[in-house]
Amino acid sequence: MALFPTKRLRRLRYNSTVRNMVRETILTKNDLIYPLFVVPGTKIKKEVRSMPGVYQMSVDVVAEECKEVEKLGIPAVILFGIPDHKDEVGSGAYDPNGIIQQAVRAIKKEVKRLLVITDVCLCEYTSHGHCGVLHGEEILNDETVELLVKEAVSHAQAGADIIAPSDMMDGRVGAIRKALDENGFTNIPIMSYAVKYASGFYGPFRDAAESAPAFGDRRSHQMDTANSAEALREAESDIEEGADIIMVKPAGAYLDIIWRVKEKFGMPTAAYQVSGEYAMIKAAGKNNWIDEERVMIESLTAIKRAGADMILTYFAKDVAKFLDSSK
Ligand code: PBG
Repeated sequence: MALFPTKRLRRLRYNSTVRNMVRETILTKNDLIYPLFVVPGTKIKKEVRSMPGVYQMSVDVVAEECKEVEKLGIPAVILFGIPDHKDEVGSGAYDPNGIIQQAVRAIKKEVKRLLVITDVCLCEYTSHGHCGVLHGEEILNDETVELLVKEAVSHAQAGADIIAPSDMMDGRVGAIRKALDENGFTNIPIMSYAVKYASGFYGPFRDAAESAPAFGDRRSHQMDTANSAEALREAESDIEEGADIIMVKPAGAYLDIIWRVKEKFGMPTAAYQVSGEYAMIKAAGKNNWIDEERVMIESLTAIKRAGADMILTYFAKDVAKFLDSSK
């Protein structure tokens, strides 16, 4: 092996043309999935306090927004719904005329290619803010899975293109797959939040989705942030149960997990750059403590470099515009 002075790694960093030629990871619009929050009402567009540039939107506004997202060349959105009433069993989640079901139908009228992914969970729909049915303070697994199945099927009936269960109940991917197939949705893929940690980085999302738990936390179903071998077991069971795409969430603090999951299973792998990751970059950018655009691209490129094939990010529109302007 040649050593210095024969070997000089700086030769390939000489100017931007050389650097462009040897770049290993390139972020493209096809990598992006844009999260949207739907609320009841009309003409509503309300900024989320802790997430500048992210809005709660009524169905009519979301449908217009999706036209713009499609025009920007972003391939997919993921929808979160805030219902007009919440109850113990989250019935708004599987109401055929619920907020997500209405939004999917409205969006599908306006767009041609844009894929509509729906988040399947109960936490936005329950009065107690937990991801499932409670017995005392315990979240019941199997009873919750039955409701998630109803939610998933009703999303597919409304026209959702991909179903994304985010609840972390055991066995829900298999149950949802079976129900989708029985209802004629054999071609609808499941993107499972397979490896979802009990993370402090979800803080701002709970403002956006109005889904903070009334007591306790989500540690009885979401993963312990200290674990990594367990992530492989979670991914493996979702794959066995029929997941088509597996997700790791959050992304930035879990690059090692994205890498291990991608290496081990070689599955289409998604990563979610969550609300807290976005909020931190935005806040530091607004204060001119960091260069927001540069850190946005750096953070997303790192997630892709770690092995993610697609990234859910609140920066999706900004990235698409950046890529257009830097051509
Ligand atoms: C659950 C769900 C959450 C997020 C996505 N789906 C919240 C949670 O688990 O508490 C978080 C996304 C983010 O922080 O951006 N429906």
